[in-house]
Amino acid sequence: MGSNDRRTPGFPEIHEGGKSAKNARPMFVNLDNPEHDKQRSMLESEFTLDTIEKKWRPMMEKTIDELLDKFIEKGGKHQPIDLVEDLATPIPTHIIYQALGVPQKDVDRLSNDSEVRNSTSRNAAESANTHLHQYMAELVHSKIEKPGNDIISTLVKQYHEGNLSEDDVTTLAFLVLTAGNAALISSISVGVLVLLEHPEQLEEFKKRPELAGNVVTEISRYHTASALNSRRAVKEDVDIGGQTLRQGESVICSVQAGNRDEDKFGNDAEKFDIHRKLDFSESLGFGYGPHRCQADHFSRVQLEIVLTKLFKRLPNLQLAKPPSELSYTPATMNAGLTEMLVRFD
Ligand code: HEM
Repeated sequence: MGSNDRRTPGFPEIHEGGKSAKNARPMFVNLDNPEHDKQRSMLESEFTLDTIEKKWRPMMEKTIDELLDKFIEKGGKHQPIDLVEDLATPIPTHIIYQALGVPQKDVDRLSNDSEVRNSTSRNAAESANTHLHQYMAELVHSKIEKPGNDIISTLVKQYHEGNLSEDDVTTLAFLVLTAGNAALISSISVGVLVLLEHPEQLEEFKKRPELAGNVVTEISRYHTASALNSRRAVKEDVDIGGQTLRQGESVICSVQAGNRDEDKFGNDAEKFDIHRKLDFSESLGFGYGPHRCQADHFSRVQLEIVLTKLFKRLPNLQLAKPPSELSYTPATMNAGLTEMLVRFD
């Protein structure tokens, strides 16, 4: 009953760029079935729990260790340092470039690209035809000649089997590159903030790092990074909760409110509680249904590693300014912080 295809009458666009993206080559996040499932299946093997543990976890651990070294070196004793700019941004950006198979020599340069920093799965198509897109197209071409052990090379196998064109591979690679970066940047920074604001739970987490899974599940419920992503056009009349939605109408789901729904999460839904009995799949932060984030576990593992390592290496990390002076992203973007000065000794 709900269409994710932005060409369907009534599809709610909230950015100017979204209207022009209607004419761009659609990415599967913006397609309905059967095309959605077909394209999504091309990436499936890269995001299974087994692949994440064997192939991606070691790379994530190494990258996070190296970027933490740099962060600690730059921050120095008692010097305020911006956790958003110097830690939360480089970590997911470096990781996704490496997973795609971008050569190390290009990673630092491309990591400063604002398209990757601000994109979401929803506005990825708006960024097509930029120099970054061009870079990805050239990279795909080179992987067709010389594949490696990365996401683009997995897609290239589908190209050789005749299931994808070269343009399809570039489109899929570009979606993976831009889909979750901004949400991960914001989840890392707001995740650190929420733990600093709950010192007793933070102390417990530091003593018991095995709680990382609970901590991340609760962060993705309490803080809905990808707040504006679940949008649909109504394809046929339907009654929901006593309300009739008519064909052609637009729906923007209030995922943040859903994540604090007392009927679902109990009377203390407004409270941050790392002991909440909650399965990761129940939090709406990564979406719901057939379009649920394909990299939800990839992101969960990344967040678990970052938070565990950060508080292990910097147990005295603290805010360098009072929470009231923090600056947040505008309401039309993913919920997050634009700057968070911290210090450590
Ligand atoms: C904290 C991090 C992340 C959050 C909160 C998040 C959230 C979401 C949400 C809410 C959707 C559903 C959109 C809809 O219903 O229309 C989605 C879809 C998607 N995400 Fe993520 N995401 C994150 C990280 C990532 C990363 C790192 C990647 C890539 C490596 C990624 C790839 C995708 C893809 C490919 C889709 C489309 C799925 C489909 O339409 O079947 N996401 N994400």
